[in-house]
Amino acid sequence: MADIRILPAVLVNKIAAGEVIERPASIVKELVENALDARAARIDISVEEGGKRLIRVADDGAGMSSEDAALAFRAHATSKIATDEDLFAIETLGFRGEALASVASVSHAHLRTRRADDGAGSGVTASGGELSPPRPCPAAPGTTVTIRDLFFNTPARRKFLRTPNTELGHITEQLVRASVPRPDVSFTLTHNARQVHNLPAVASTTARIADLFAADLADSLLPIVARSGRTGVAGLIGRPAASRASGKWQYFFLNGRFIRDRILAHALREAYRGLIDPGRWPVAFVFLTVDPEEVDVNVHPTKIEVRFRDSQMVHGELLAALRETLNRADLTPAAALDEPSGAIQQDPAAESRRQSLREAIADFFESKSSGASPQGRMSPAPRETSQRSAPQTVHPSPALGTLAAREPSSPVPATAPGQYLTDKPPATVSAAGPKAIQIHNSYIVAADDEGLIIVDQHALHERLIYNDLKGRLGDGKLAGQRLLIPQTFAASPAEADALVSAGETLGRLGIEVAPFGPETLAVQRFPTLLVERGVSPVEFMRQMLDGLAEGWGPDQEQLLEELLSMMACQAAVKAGEKLGEMEIDDLLARRQQADKSSSCPHGRPTTLKLTLPQLAKQFNRS
Ligand SMILES: Nc1ncnc2c1ncn2[C@@H]1O[C@H](COP(=O)(O)OP(=O)(O)O)[C@@H](O)[C@H]1O
Ligand SMILES: [Mg+2]
Repeated sequence: MADIRILPAVLVNKIAAGEVIERPASIVKELVENALDARAARIDISVEEGGKRLIRVADDGAGMSSEDAALAFRAHATSKIATDEDLFAIETLGFRGEALASVASVSHAHLRTRRADDGAGSGVTASGGELSPPRPCPAAPGTTVTIRDLFFNTPARRKFLRTPNTELGHITEQLVRASVPRPDVSFTLTHNARQVHNLPAVASTTARIADLFAADLADSLLPIVARSGRTGVAGLIGRPAASRASGKWQYFFLNGRFIRDRILAHALREAYRGLIDPGRWPVAFVFLTVDPEEVDVNVHPTKIEVRFRDSQMVHGELLAALRETLNRADLTPAAALDEPSGAIQQDPAAESRRQSLREAIADFFESKSSGASPQGRMSPAPRETSQRSAPQTVHPSPALGTLAAREPSSPVPATAPGQYLTDKPPATVSAAGPKAIQIHNSYIVAADDEGLIIVDQHALHERLIYNDLKGRLGDGKLAGQRLLIPQTFAASPAEADALVSAGETLGRLGIEVAPFGPETLAVQRFPTLLVERGVSPVEFMRQMLDGLAEGWGPDQEQLLEELLSMMACQAAVKAGEKLGEMEIDDLLARRQQADKSSSCPHGRPTTLKLTLPQLAKQFNRS
């Protein structure tokens, strides 16, 4: 092996550039961070050919003296830290002093800068790492850095660059990350002399997001509810209905710096569990503030990853804030009908959904007018649905055991007005006329003060039961019932093992399983609610074993969630089940009291809403 030697500075910088400078967007990131550290109020970014030919970032920040300008391109030249204590109290975006040196080692770079009080500015050129001394030059206060021909001297890396449009996409992403936490700073982005973003300084993050993205995204956001704790949590999160097919719209900022973090992403996913489909991603812009001493930002060359001193605490406090935000919000999605004058819809499934929605609305108004007798406004008059239903009694749907406290074995005459009252009168859905009908034995259409709602009976009931179970579990255990005849089922040794490790969680749910013979187990105790609902213990266990095989657990909290969802789903009324009026009323009343999340534990919506203004629009009244 050859002798050891110290590498020349130019080569050292080139090696560092390999870590920091991956593509034009990396340069944009570094230059914009420098401008923000220099307290710029305005930052103009222009690029040519996706930044491959040229990147220029101009700011109106503090500027540099000519001495500093001479040092700026040198490795480890930084004005931001001085001692090793500083390293653990970073308040600036940059501090490693290697960005400009790295950039200059792989491009033709030029810097022009002036401090407001200086008579003249200074210009410095650095080409492939070769520095020119600073020269006086005219300059506006602030700094402009121009980078030409990125990777001109490292052709292997130039080959990895993509099309200008792809590179521009990465640059735009950097603009989002830099500009969302700083709505007070104005930004522009120009590509090949065409302005692609103009972001004036605005008063709020929401306004900035509206300028960056479509306005409907900004409208779908809920402000995170503030809580006290060691971690400051603020920001905006999307309603479940506005979730996306990718995680691209999830932004976490720590002390103003964009970061990627698995722990934070986990808390976000956790908060939306049950509110959105597992394959969907919530939109989120989350701003965390922690004491700089609580976090190490020097664990990644571009500082995109950090290390928390107490990540469990941050996770817990973030999750709590997100949950509270979602709990407080009214999450009912609006029914999405096409615009009356809108383009022809291509998606046949969507079209047929809209068609059935229109029919539902028509049905609803038809029944409303036929039932609207003068006295009908005062007392619940017999309704068309009940008159039409062939048997005059509605079977006691065991489903509603949890909904209405009534004797499950006494049939309720569906048309006797006095009998509609449960022990607790249902909350009024609307003051006007007959309140609700069930259509196709699956949906409930009802008027409310703002227009009308369409409820998926299964999804809603499932959500209500889920909430109820969650509430009871909070107080301890779910009630279980000892089975007179233990229900046996076959289980492989591996399945039996999985059940044993889930034993404690099962116990909390009121389920007890014991060995019964070779490869046979028996359910001894089963949740009272499920027994009342006629859910088969054996089928339940089968589904659960399938879930365990798919990876439920070993996280017991997650397992508990999965099982609660499963219980709620199996105990809820099914689509296609006929409901009596009392049951309908009861469902709706409980919806008003409890279900603000408007989605079942599996993430499907429980309720769609159509407001009077939307109706007016559909009927061309507006
Ligand atoms: N836009 C700018 N305005 C004022 N000073 C700047 C600007 N860009 C760079 N500098 C100065 O140059 C130094 C080196 O920049 P850089 O290589 O990015 O290292 P770092 O940002 O980690 O300190 C900075 O510490 C700062 O003093
Ligand atoms: Mg920097």
